[in-house]
Amino acid sequence: MCGIVGYIGPKNAYPIIINGLKRLEYRGYDSAGIALIDKEISVFKKKGKVSDLEEFVSDKNTAGTIGIGHTRWATHGEPNDVNAHPHVSMKGEFVVIHNGIIENYSRLKKRLEDRGYVFQSETDTEVLANLIEYIYSFSNVSAEIAVRLALSKVIGAYGILVICRHEQDKIIAARKGSPLVIGIGEGEYFFASDATPIVEHTKSVIYLNDNDVAIVTKDELSLKTIHNVQVNPKVQKLSLDIGEIEKGGYDHFMLKEIFEQPKSILDTFRGRVALDRKSIHLGGLHDVFDRITHAKRIIIIGCGTSWHAGLVGEYLFEDLARIPVEVEYASEFRYRNPVIFPDDVIISISQSGETADTLAAIKLAKEAGALVLGVCNVVGSSIPRETHAGVYTHAGPEIGVASTKAFTAQVTVLAMMATSMGFKRGVLSQEDYEKLIEELYNIPPKIEEILSFNEEFKRIAELYKDATNFLYLGRGYLFPVALEGALKLKEISYIHAEGYPAAEMKHGPIALIDQHMPVVVIATKDKSYEKIVSNIQEVKARKGIVIAIVNKGDTIIRDLADHVLEIPESHEALAPLLTVVPLQLLSYYIAVFRGCNVDQPRNLAKSVTVE
Ligand code: F6R
Repeated sequence: MCGIVGYIGPKNAYPIIINGLKRLEYRGYDSAGIALIDKEISVFKKKGKVSDLEEFVSDKNTAGTIGIGHTRWATHGEPNDVNAHPHVSMKGEFVVIHNGIIENYSRLKKRLEDRGYVFQSETDTEVLANLIEYIYSFSNVSAEIAVRLALSKVIGAYGILVICRHEQDKIIAARKGSPLVIGIGEGEYFFASDATPIVEHTKSVIYLNDNDVAIVTKDELSLKTIHNVQVNPKVQKLSLDIGEIEKGGYDHFMLKEIFEQPKSILDTFRGRVALDRKSIHLGGLHDVFDRITHAKRIIIIGCGTSWHAGLVGEYLFEDLARIPVEVEYASEFRYRNPVIFPDDVIISISQSGETADTLAAIKLAKEAGALVLGVCNVVGSSIPRETHAGVYTHAGPEIGVASTKAFTAQVTVLAMMATSMGFKRGVLSQEDYEKLIEELYNIPPKIEEILSFNEEFKRIAELYKDATNFLYLGRGYLFPVALEGALKLKEISYIHAEGYPAAEMKHGPIALIDQHMPVVVIATKDKSYEKIVSNIQEVKARKGIVIAIVNKGDTIIRDLADHVLEIPESHEALAPLLTVVPLQLLSYYIAVFRGCNVDQPRNLAKSVTVE
C-alpha cells in the first residue's frame, strides 16, 4: 500500500520517477507526488492518479537529478492535495515520503505541537518529517543521525525516503515492516517499494531489511542499522523480465493475468515435478518435509483471495494427506489469543508477501514455537524472509489489483504439497500419486480450452451487467471457489455478491432469491453432484436465474439452468483450478461493461501493508 520511488544519479530524475510511479500505481492511487532537487527542493503533489500529477506539472520546471515520488493509498486523512506525499517539514528542511503507518503519531504530534510545530495535513508522515527536523535543528546533528534518532522514537511500520535541504547530495532510505528495494546502476541508484520500477534500469538490487538505513549519494551507498551498526549490503540479481510487467496488448492487466494462467501454473510446476512425472520435489521444503508430513495439525493463514486458496488447501490436506487443517483469517488469528502448539505447522499464504496482518500472524506463530511456512509470489518480499521455509508460487508479477493467477498458483502449490505429503504418509498409493501428478499436468491445456470460450463468458456478462446482487454456490472443493467468484465480482464491478456452500442456502440466503437474482452455481461432476442438482432445482423453484459451471456434455443441468458454461473434467481435488477461470472472466467482463476501472478498483490497493 502506497508506492515509493526515488532516483539519484546523473540523469533527469523526473521521467524515471514518473514511470516508476506508474508501475507502482497498483499499490494505491488516491494521490501522487514528487520532490526534485535542483539547487532548491520543488514539491508537486496532486489528488488522483499519476496522470493527474503529470498534467499538473506539465508547465512546471522538473529539472533535477535527485528526486523522490509517492503514490498513495490513504490511511490518515482523506485523499486530497494536502494529505498527498511528499510531506515537507515546517521549516522546509526535510522532505519525506512514506509507506506504512506510524502508530504513535498522535503522541509525537502533540509533543511537537507543544514545541511550536504547526501541521498542514492530517497525516502521520508529516509528523515524522517534523520530528526529523526538530531533532536535526535542536541537536545540531547530520541529516542521517536525525533520521535514525527520529526512527528510534517511532512505533509502527515504514518504508521511507528522505531528502534534506542542507545535504542535497543524498537520499536517506529506511525500512521497518514496509518493503524497500535499492537498484544499483553505474553511478546511479534507484529506490522503490518493489522491483518493478527498477528492472528496466538495472538487475542488481539490495532488499533492505527491517531497521536498515541506507545513506545514498550518486557514488556511494552506506548501509547501517538505526542503531548505527554498519551492515554489509547483500546484492541480488533480479530474475524479473520487463515484458512481465507490461500489458502486452491486453486491455487490462487483469485480463492478461487470467490468460497467463496456463503458463503461470506450468511455471509453478517447473523444476518441482520430475521429468517422468512420477514424483514431486519441493526444494524449499526439503529440510522440513519430514516434520510437516508428521504434523498433527496444519493451520493455514491468509487474507482475501489467499485465504480462499487456504480453504481449498484445507480440503486438499485433509482429503489427500489426512492431516487436520484449520484455516484462519490472519487478522482474526493474530488478535484472538489462538492456541498454537510447538508441533503445529503454519502455512501462510500471500501473493505480495507483504500483507501486514499475515506478517503479524506469522510472528505470533513463531513466538509460539510452531514451524511456519510461506507460500508467496513476490520473490524477496517480507513473508519469505520471516518464515522458516516455503515455496514460491512463481506466477510472475500480478499487477491487476484483483488476484487471479496468484490464486491458481497458490492452489497448485498446495495441491503439490498435499499430494507429496499424502504419498509420504501412505494415504496415496504410488498409482494415486502418479495419477494426481498427471492430472495436475493436464490442468494448463484444460485452462487453455476454457479460455477459448472467452466470447461466451463475455456474452453472459453483458446480459447480467446491471444486476444488483449475485449469489455464488458451490460444495466441497468448490465452496471456496464460490467465495472467490463472489469476491472477484464485488471488488471490481461493485455489485454486491455473496458466496455460500450450496447446502447452506436453505438456512437463510434462499430468502433472497427471486426472478432478479442471478445465482452462479459451480456444479462440476464430483461426489456431491446430485445434491447440487437439487440445489439448482430449489433456486429454479423460486424463479432465480441459474448460471451453472458444468462439465462438458452435462445434459441434466443444461435442462435446468438458464445458462451453462462448460469446462473440461478433472480430478475432483483439482477442479478449483478450472472452475475459477470462468468466474474470473465473468467478473472481468461485467466490470468492463459497467465502465469500472478493472485494474485499479476504488478504495483498494494491491499490497495491504496496513493492519
Ligand atoms: C482479492 C485480493 C485480495 C488479496 C489480499 C491478500 O482479489 O487480491 O483479497 O488476496 O489482500 O493479499 P496477499 O495475497 O498479497 O497477502
